[in-house]
Amino acid sequence: MSGTRGDREQERGSAPELILAGRALLNGRLQPVEIAIDGEGRIQSLGRVRTGAPRHDVGDAVILPAATDLHVHFREPGGDRGVESLATGTVQAALGGVTLVGDMPNNDPPIADLDALESKQRLVVGRAAVDVLLYATPTRAAALEPLSRAAGAFKIYLSPTTGIRETLPSAALGPLLERLAALGLPVTVHAEEPDRFGDRSPPRDPVDWNAHRPPEAETAAIDRLLTAPAGLRLHVAHVTLPSSVERLRAARVSFEATPHHLLLHDRSGPDARFKVNPPLRSEADRRGLWEAFRRGEVPCVASDHAPHAPDRKELPFAKAPSGMPGVETLLPLLLARCRNGELELATLLRAACDRPARWLGQPLGRIAPGHRANLLVVDFKARTRLDGKRLHAPCGWTAFEGWEAIFPREHYRDGRRIVEGGEYVGRPSGRLVRPEYAPSGGPRPPRR
Ligand code: DOR
Ligand code: ZN
Repeated sequence: MSGTRGDREQERGSAPELILAGRALLNGRLQPVEIAIDGEGRIQSLGRVRTGAPRHDVGDAVILPAATDLHVHFREPGGDRGVESLATGTVQAALGGVTLVGDMPNNDPPIADLDALESKQRLVVGRAAVDVLLYATPTRAAALEPLSRAAGAFKIYLSPTTGIRETLPSAALGPLLERLAALGLPVTVHAEEPDRFGDRSPPRDPVDWNAHRPPEAETAAIDRLLTAPAGLRLHVAHVTLPSSVERLRAARVSFEATPHHLLLHDRSGPDARFKVNPPLRSEADRRGLWEAFRRGEVPCVASDHAPHAPDRKELPFAKAPSGMPGVETLLPLLLARCRNGELELATLLRAACDRPARWLGQPLGRIAPGHRANLLVVDFKARTRLDGKRLHAPCGWTAFEGWEAIFPREHYRDGRRIVEGGEYVGRPSGRLVRPEYAPSGGPRPPRR
């Protein structure tokens, strides 16, 4: 299906603008390929092409599809631009190999009506280095229908978190999900049930935090979500438990896991840099989640990039905000796991590139004719160790200090290079996108 457009262009004989030559993972195997990219920045064909178009041979490096990060918090409007903005966040995305981000609506004010959404849209245009899809939060009944025509997706918070003080009364969830099912946009849920939160206070470290917002809060929230109407395009954010993976898979509900829940546990570090919602879990839960991810049972990986100023993270643990940066390191951390033989590259590419792009109805995430030529060049020999000060998040820290990572050497967006030699060389020409579910052709919504 997705090849139709590329085939048509070939029939018309339009000459490619660029040929990228190298190795790529095609049909399950790394093999030499030439990727012809047309004047609109789409992949036109794969295989040998005889043309006078410029040819860029990436040598020993590997060409990968660029990633989609379903879950970031770039803090505009209302945040401290010294800590993050749509401009700084999207540059980190570009450098980390992420070509499309879904930006969350827990802004100040929250993105809960059309006015708020439209002013946030104006902050994206001309300032974003990669494409952006904006979530809205469906807290105002009268705003739902107008929002569904302009937002990229909805996000529901079942529990309080950064910027979200009031949450939906229990009885309101069912009717809301019915309405959202009729409106057709993807709906992501922060699945923690506040009734199950403990009152042991104040939490002093990530182990206490895990006891305070315990695994049962996730299990109970998922119990409720499993009664959602079948027509709802439901996705569960930052799943932390192996049992949640099993249940959501059985129910064919989409979900994501974050690198921090896959790689860190509640004893990885004692301070508030390791405070997130939902909390880091026990090592046994982490290992179970990682094993499920390795087996390909986690459809999407997403960063939940949620930076906070270092001085706020130095507050006493109970007072410090939850969240950690991650959009720049999402793919590099996991590429290093592939290099070490702990993860299949094909499994990573499905979870970081193909499935999230499909979920948002975008022609991205695969090296296939008709898809946008948003591609990465990765040299698997170029391993580095993460250093929060040298990353590009203005907050200046990472919870993965010293971890091994492999950054893309190049990033192409619509066939144009935006990262070269690991440096950002693009312009802020990222677009606002919404799901494109063409009745025929183009990507199809994945089945739940
Ligand atoms: O840890 C988190 N931080 N979890 C969330 O749900 C929100 C996020 C933030 O915006 O800081
Ligand atoms: Zn989040």
